[in-house]
Amino acid sequence: MHSVRSPRVTVFPDARTAARVVAARLASALQENPSLVFGLPTGRTPIALYEELVRLTAARALDWSKVTTFNLDEFVGLRPEDPGSYRRFMQEHLFRFTNLDPQRINFLVGTANPEEECLRYERAIAEVGGIDIQILGIGTNGHIGFNEPGHELDSLTHLVKLRQETRRSNAAFFGGNIDHVPTEALSMGMATILHSRSVVLLAHGESKAGCMARVVNGPLTTELPASFLQLHPDADLILDAAAASQLTH
Ligand code: F6R
Repeated sequence: MHSVRSPRVTVFPDARTAARVVAARLASALQENPSLVFGLPTGRTPIALYEELVRLTAARALDWSKVTTFNLDEFVGLRPEDPGSYRRFMQEHLFRFTNLDPQRINFLVGTANPEEECLRYERAIAEVGGIDIQILGIGTNGHIGFNEPGHELDSLTHLVKLRQETRRSNAAFFGGNIDHVPTEALSMGMATILHSRSVVLLAHGESKAGCMARVVNGPLTTELPASFLQLHPDADLILDAAAASQLTH
């Protein structure tokens, strides 16, 4: 394991070890401040982290009752209870194992009027005083949340047209059929994410090695949204050995 400054890069031998260390850190933060506001991702990457958090919740009797959560994104057109929704994913992998107050679980609603819903979400984040710890995964094309690469990036929560590669990588959550993956999503914007007091990005596996090398060693560019984490004063990039295999320093 080694670290460098700004953003801090930490490399673990494997994803499970990374998840264990990050979960322990989050659990300690929660014990220190029971009213933490978490920003949370879905996808394959955080599953091990959520498993470890669930384990620690039981082992240390973690109290989530005053915690507030905001998930990064949700598919347009899906109801919270739909099997492919991110809300359902969070219920399965984390929420049901905690004593989180349902009133403090914040989610973008995929069936709401998109414009109003995005404004509501920004207001809700502002009302609780912002996000303390934003956990992120990263797409192989460098997206965070559903902020896809492009000539420009949206700063606030917005409606997104999903790229084919992003829909393909989500197909596993829709019976392996890309045609069942919604074409649009609502997502926190870049400023929503970057305003979080701290950011922890997790990346596992060889498929993330190319984009992580560019995030760490490359220039800031809208063509790689995660490169903007270089501007964040308190960002941790947590990699396994495979995801770190193309870093140059
Ligand atoms: C999902 C999200 C996305 C994922 C990214 C990586 O809430 O924010 O940015 O983190 O698509 O997905 P996995 O972890 O499945 O490789």
